[in-house]
Amino acid sequence: MIRKILKWTGLTLGMVILLVIAGFVAASVNVNRRIQEDYSFKKEEIDITADSAALARGKHLVAIKGCQDCHGTDLGGKIMMDDGAVGKLSASNLTKGNGGLPQSYGPADWLTALRHGIGTNGKPLLFMPSHETALLSEQDISAIIAYCGQVPKVDRKLPANDLGPVAIIMSALDKMPLLSVEKIDHNRPMIAKADSSEGVAQGKYLSISCSGCHREDMKGGEPLAPGFPPVPNITSSGHVGKWSQQQFITTLTTGKTPEGHVLKNDDMPWKMTAQYTKTELASLYLYLKSI
Ligand code: HEC
Ligand code: HEC
Repeated sequence: MIRKILKWTGLTLGMVILLVIAGFVAASVNVNRRIQEDYSFKKEEIDITADSAALARGKHLVAIKGCQDCHGTDLGGKIMMDDGAVGKLSASNLTKGNGGLPQSYGPADWLTALRHGIGTNGKPLLFMPSHETALLSEQDISAIIAYCGQVPKVDRKLPANDLGPVAIIMSALDKMPLLSVEKIDHNRPMIAKADSSEGVAQGKYLSISCSGCHREDMKGGEPLAPGFPPVPNITSSGHVGKWSQQQFITTLTTGKTPEGHVLKNDDMPWKMTAQYTKTELASLYLYLKSI
């Protein structure tokens, strides 16, 4: 009897292990094929004017769009993850120092990265939120390129990306934003200029940077990764609906909500939102209250 039970438990366990291995192999084949895919898009040209207004705008955008959170304060690149389970993932050195962008890297290459999510070799950029930068106006993209093109060179060589099992499984299940190239409407033309006066239109444009976490409808959802808090609804039907504009601005600049909840910068990047101008925060508030 015992031997029979043991035999069946052993067999069941064996089956389960086999299924898990088969599932992992399938996920791994799927993700590797998508990472290796070759893409090509028509090269675009835009005017890059590096005057003081454009450079100031570029600097502001680089701060409020989180470029420095991933690429480092000096834009010289950063190891974002180095973990046996998730793997190794680094954000490129965006300067032309050693280990940085090739000397020939020009505006057309910047556009390919920011609007299509692929590198100069035609392969997808991993984990770079190009589905968000793709929605920037031509004026803003141009300002970012102008600003990044003149930051001091940084010599920093980063390790090659190497995905671990957790990243592979999460990507196969679409629980990790690994391949922005697949999420972009590549035929969408650039808008020339975004509305920069305080109001709902500016708020909607800025909220693209919140959509990666708070979802496209801003209603939040499941935690972004195991161990993180659920993402709250920030529309009029959530807490924000009850806050005054001043309370909203205080929350996004100090990380403390009117309910007394303290937001950790690692969960909700309030040190990034603290760099928005008062006008931009007011517009975000007006937009979120309107939906
Ligand atoms: C969530 C993290 C994250 C944010 C935010 C982010 N990047 Fe990236 N970016 C990456 C990673 C990771 C890569 C490297 C992708 C790879 O090697 O496959 C990358 C690659 C790039 C590349 C391509 C460089 C190359 O080696 O070909 C450019 C250009 C770039 N980012 C610019 C920006 C700019 C400008 C911003 C802000 C508007 C920004 N990134 C915001 C993570 C990020
Ligand atoms: C990297 C993911 C991420 C991004 C990007 C992000 N948020 Fe959040 N946000 C969170 C998480 C997670 C929480 C909840 C944190 C907690 O419960 O401690 C949160 C909380 C908040 C809260 C508090 C809500 C409440 O009910 O207390 C507000 C307001 C907020 N975010 C607004 C924004 C706005 C506006 C943007 C874009 C400019 C933004 N967030 C971008 C992840 C993000």
